[in-house]
Amino acid sequence: MSAPQWKVALVTGTNCNLGMNIVYRLIEAEEDDTRITIIVTSRTLPRVREVIDNIKAYVDKLDRSGIVDYDYLLVDFTDMVSILNAYYEMNKKYQKLDYFFACSAQGVYDGIDWIGAVKEICANPIKGATDPHYKIQRVGVKSQDGMGLVFQCNVFGPYYLTQKLLPLLENAKGRIIWISSIMSDPKYLSFDDLQLLKTDSSYEGSKREIDLLHIATYDKLRERGIKQYLIHPGIFTSMSFFQYLNVFTYYGMLFMFYLVRWLGSPWMNISGYTAANAPVYVAKLVSQTFEKQDVKYGSACTRDGHEYIKIQEVDKTGAEDLLKYLDDLKADWDDKLKDQITNSRQRN
Ligand SMILES: NC(=O)c1ccc[n+]([C@@H]2O[C@H](COP(=O)([O-])OP(=O)(O)OC[C@H]3O[C@@H](n4cnc5c(N)ncnc54)[C@H](OP(=O)(O)O)[C@@H]3O)[C@@H](O)[C@H]2O)c1
Repeated sequence: MSAPQWKVALVTGTNCNLGMNIVYRLIEAEEDDTRITIIVTSRTLPRVREVIDNIKAYVDKLDRSGIVDYDYLLVDFTDMVSILNAYYEMNKKYQKLDYFFACSAQGVYDGIDWIGAVKEICANPIKGATDPHYKIQRVGVKSQDGMGLVFQCNVFGPYYLTQKLLPLLENAKGRIIWISSIMSDPKYLSFDDLQLLKTDSSYEGSKREIDLLHIATYDKLRERGIKQYLIHPGIFTSMSFFQYLNVFTYYGMLFMFYLVRWLGSPWMNISGYTAANAPVYVAKLVSQTFEKQDVKYGSACTRDGHEYIKIQEVDKTGAEDLLKYLDDLKADWDDKLKDQITNSRQRN
């Protein structure tokens, strides 16, 4: 009899609705006797404790025979020193990494244009819910490292970490899963503004960059034995907008989500568990022989909430240009950080 397997999974932004459900579904999808180490990330220790407690409570109900153990990384993707520390921690403790889910994200929101929201939703409820323009985003916000904050948090920071972790992923023949969005239309990205500092759609632009980054890199990674996939989770309830909602607008939003699902949009997953279908599908269930990597796997559902995977084509224009920009920036930061060795667990 062969010994049970041991898998190591790192999920960035584990504490969000999607991140936690990716962990739940991944544990459910693994063989019952596989030992799984879940590495959660957050910017703060209280949220690390909270998310590990939540996962433990879930796992207790599963009655699986394999061990699930927990570790954490404190990492802020708007801080390059913090990212480097996360890499040092990983490299010190692990010989391999089976899964990297790039789930964390940030937008620089400044509220909701309620009049615009009513107009957009009344004019076209499906478009108003799946491609909204009434979320107000600030323009020109930089990180303390002097980069576009949304660009660094959602694209360059996670890319830099995955590049550092490639040897560990290679050892496991691991998988990288990038979380994009249905809102990653090419119109949101200008190649004169790759740090997304001049646009009022920096969040959407960052998701378009993730699409292109995946397209430009998956082939080379496959040569190293690493499989990379691009997914989007549809629409689901998230904490990111709670601060702008009250009890009436929150339930109004939920009502709109169910209405739009009933009207026929396949993307109104609403539940974080359904939204986590595509990320775990590509991590675990895609056929080794017939899988396609140059597409986006979407978590979709029927009117009555039954989940399925819906595949979308990706416009590849500009992928190599973006990759060159990211790799030049990576070389700059490798140089700036070359003497930087600290321990992230002493920073907070
Ligand atoms: N909600 C939707 O309908 C929807 C639709 C399409 C795509 N998505 C994508 O799905 C993913 C999850 O979305 P969500 O709405 O559930 O997110 P969320 O509630 O806003 O949570 C974001 C997560 O990212 C982490 N994070 C934020 N800024 C960070 C930083 N500077 N450094 C490191 N981590 C940071 C947070 O961790 P801590 O606060 O613990 O540090 C948090 O766990 C994102 O990639 C999002 O773009 C969501």
